[in-house]
Amino acid sequence: MLFDTHAHLLDERFDGEREDIINALPSNGVGAYCEIGYDIKSSINATSLANKFEYVYASVGVHPHDTDSLTEDDLNTIKNLCKEEKVVAIGEIGLDYYYDNSKRENQRFWFDRQLSLAEEINIPITVHTRDAMADTIDILKCHKNAEGIIHCYSGSKESAKILLDMGFFISFAGPLTFKNASTALEVAKYVPSDRMLIETDSPYLAPVPYRGKRNEPSFVAEVAKRLSEIRGISFEEVSLLTFENAKNVYRIK
Ligand code: NI
Repeated sequence: MLFDTHAHLLDERFDGEREDIINALPSNGVGAYCEIGYDIKSSINATSLANKFEYVYASVGVHPHDTDSLTEDDLNTIKNLCKEEKVVAIGEIGLDYYYDNSKRENQRFWFDRQLSLAEEINIPITVHTRDAMADTIDILKCHKNAEGIIHCYSGSKESAKILLDMGFFISFAGPLTFKNASTALEVAKYVPSDRMLIETDSPYLAPVPYRGKRNEPSFVAEVAKRLSEIRGISFEEVSLLTFENAKNVYRIK
């Protein structure tokens, strides 16, 4: 069974099919997945979804895109959601200097605040970082007790080394299967077997051979297949390792 550590099935592209897709996950080889919140509403809805399905977990937090409008009250809502049993992380949080949908100073401020909250209540984080690796690492370094995942890792091997030394897990998504994935391939070879994770980031970033289509958690098998080729181990071994790692990082018993 596979663990898709990062998906957004609450996206409107799944409207009308969501529950059928989730019900079919175990028969499609997916034993668990984490629904990732990106703003307050999606964080509340992710929690409700996780409460409905045994093998669905939730992560709650505000994406860098939405930090311009974030308030201390919102942060308190996140804190309260973290008390729910199925909420396993704060995220996705981080920095996105590619789209710059929110002011960079606001992105940095709320990344830092959400990291402090994660440390205060001792819950893992899931980090989104795009075109902002240096600042991401600088801010993470100020939060020595923060633990968790760098999702859809797209950085260099050198940055991966720094993040691994800080204790983070590295999660691979669809881009690992793309033809131009030379840096990702290098990182996928390098990450220790007890720190690698797989994800889809559904509905985005569908892996080959579904590239360009709506992604869904069962396609995580393509990421696992590619990882098994790159590392020269069996698909079953990748499944077992990444499932166990996902349980470890999300502290699922
Ligand atoms: Ni995401």
